Amino acid sequence: MTQPGIFITFEGSEGCGKTTQIESLTRALQAAGRQVLVTREPGGTPVGEQIRHVLQHSRDSEAMTPETELLLFAASRAQLVREVIAPALAAGTDVVSDRFLDSTTVYQGVARRLDAADVRRINSFAVGPRLPDLTFILDLTAAAARGRVFDRPGLANESAAPDRIEREPLAFYERVRAGYLDLAATDPARFRVLDAAQSRDALAAQILHIVQEIIDGISAATRA
Ligand SMILES: Nc1ncnc2c1ncn2[C@@H]1O[C@H](COP(=O)(O)OP(=O)(O)OP(=O)(O)O)[C@@H](O)[C@H]1O
Ligand SMILES: [Mg+2]
Repeated sequence: MTQPGIFITFEGSEGCGKTTQIESLTRALQAAGRQVLVTREPGGTPVGEQIRHVLQHSRDSEAMTPETELLLFAASRAQLVREVIAPALAAGTDVVSDRFLDSTTVYQGVARRLDAADVRRINSFAVGPRLPDLTFILDLTAAAARGRVFDRPGLANESAAPDRIEREPLAFYERVRAGYLDLAATDPARFRVLDAAQSRDALAAQILHIVQEIIDGISAATRA
């Protein structure tokens, strides 16, 4: 029987280095002979990319309520899980997702202050029973995270301009950071909080080491 792939998600505030680290990890896993699929949230499917436009870039979205935002993220994720993530894992491909359900818990629950029980129920309906095997939280101070977003190269181009959520004030970034740290404490087996202020290479080495331990653990359990 095919060994299922490993499901890894990256979380953290805007600008904490998720995309940078996902590229490094993917290259390393592929070099080790593993199949890897990278997905992004919101988006990752034709339906999800349309939702991404409404959530992040449409000029007509400024009036969006937190409830609408929550449901649109959940809708994009429900599609991504069924159309892409679950089939890939079943086929033995590792899946690395740039954000997943924990972003909703933190952004719409903690930062937008929606009711935590409602957020949990909607997350669980959208995602179903399969949670990530491992979730990295790249932890950065609010000021450093917001600074990176506003220092991004090519900011004058529309595609690199800060989006609707990235333009939120520092206090929003602070709630996001605290939300992630509180969440990590609820499930130390799944969450690994890493210092995102260290160099790209040091962080990449730390991430690869942790992923390798999980892969070795799964191989050992399969042989046993
Ligand atoms: N360890 C690091 N030290 C300093 N700068 C970094 C580090 N990692 C990434 N950066 C820079 O910070 C910016 C944000 O990085 P990146 O796009 O990887 O973050 P992200 O978490 O994917 O952001 P977003 O939420 O906007 O997608 C980029 O300009 C990147 O080059
Ligand atoms: Mg990114």
